Amino acid sequence: MPNYYALIPAAGYGARMGNQLPKQYLTLAGHPMIYHATRTFCESPQIKRVFIVLSPQDPEWKKYDWDVFSDKLSVFYCGGETRAESVFNGLNTAAGHFAIESSDWILVHDAARPLLTQHQLSQLIDELADDAIGGLLAVPVADTLKRSGADARILQTESREHLWQAQTPQMFRYAMLLEALNNVPELSITDDASAIEAMGHHPRLVHNKSDNFKITYPQDLALAELIMQQRNQQ
Ligand code: C5P
Repeated sequence: MPNYYALIPAAGYGARMGNQLPKQYLTLAGHPMIYHATRTFCESPQIKRVFIVLSPQDPEWKKYDWDVFSDKLSVFYCGGETRAESVFNGLNTAAGHFAIESSDWILVHDAARPLLTQHQLSQLIDELADDAIGGLLAVPVADTLKRSGADARILQTESREHLWQAQTPQMFRYAMLLEALNNVPELSITDDASAIEAMGHHPRLVHNKSDNFKITYPQDLALAELIMQQRNQQ
């Protein structure tokens, strides 16, 4: 049976948050944002180990106490210039420390998606366990989509039929993901599925809820705080 590993790239600066502190360390419900996704993976009985990929210059991680997760957590200071490069470096470094098989599953998850639930995680794993390629959590597009010119005037309305917003985790076999990322020119893609697609494969979309959104702008953090408060009251 293949093992399941989580890899959380957290070497970005989060420029769109307009903050000095990288967004994965902004406080959310009393913890740095990255704590929440780390906890979800570490507490999942299906996940064998969790790899965190930090920037080689990361000054923040060591300021916190991560002992509660120590039996599952490995931290690598090997992040790159892009998300894809951070994932690629993390996969290579992880294989230098652990006996990862080519058919083992890797679940790549953004540090900036703190609201992933245990239920959503196990749904992804269970739905893709027998899949030949793998896939990702995603949400069907709900809004009407407009394409504009550079002047922000509408050129045309796009059909939203069969359009999805990609989320993470994105789950692929170790060897296939490594090969896919190795083939991507300059590792410029914004998610892992794009690299798999570039090899001619068709990853599965696993229907999820929109609450697993990515914290990108300051207002996203306030909404995430509210959702966490509400979940804690249930
Ligand atoms: O900036 P964005 O929200 O797209 O980043 C998604 C995830 O990729 C974040 O967890 C971020 O820390 C990570 N990332 C990375 N290395 C980079 C850029 C982004 O690990 N060079």
